[in-house]
Amino acid sequence: MNRRLGVLVSGRGSNLQAILDAIGEGRLDATVAVVISNKAGAYGLERARAAGIATAVLSHRDYASREDYDRALVAALRGRDVGLVCLAGFMRLLTPVFVDAFPNAILNIHPSLLPAFPGLDAQRQAVEHGVRVSGVTVHFVNAELDAGPIVLQATVPVQPDDTPEALAERILPEEHRLYPDAIRLVLDGGWRIDGRRFVPR
Ligand code: GRF
Repeated sequence: MNRRLGVLVSGRGSNLQAILDAIGEGRLDATVAVVISNKAGAYGLERARAAGIATAVLSHRDYASREDYDRALVAALRGRDVGLVCLAGFMRLLTPVFVDAFPNAILNIHPSLLPAFPGLDAQRQAVEHGVRVSGVTVHFVNAELDAGPIVLQATVPVQPDDTPEALAERILPEEHRLYPDAIRLVLDGGWRIDGRRFVPR
């Protein structure tokens, strides 16, 4: 697989930073070809600039439809010859225009053990549900929200007195550890998709 990554962010970009650090420290053999945000003020863009990486801002407000927006995203990623797209806190729903342009080549990281607690505020959902264990999932993206084949998961305990913020803080270091590992696994190839399962080599 082409080892050029396109990372999509909407906010602070700590997972982007974890990917950049893993590459910098030789733990991940890849290049971040471009970082794209839908928000001009996203701190993730600063992190990219500090690392000398090309950035682009595509505001959804400039496009008439979700499909038009996704076409622009695809063009920007193709223009940088991206082989694997990594969503890292990218707060946009993707249409089939985007998903079909990168089949089995879009990853997302989600702060729960999917299929539990998809969507927004996963840590709050976990605390309010009273689960004893939550965690993090890296999965392929398909047209359904937070539902594609699971590449890697890690568990994190939930304490009885946890706030959503406290749980998020405990999950985050696991995200940073897991995402580069999942990207490596996917880039190294030899895996297959069987139904909804990711089957490693
Ligand atoms: C992370 O919790 C990630 O799992 C979720 O959004 C958050 C992004 O954080 N999808 P950051 O921007 O990578 O710091």
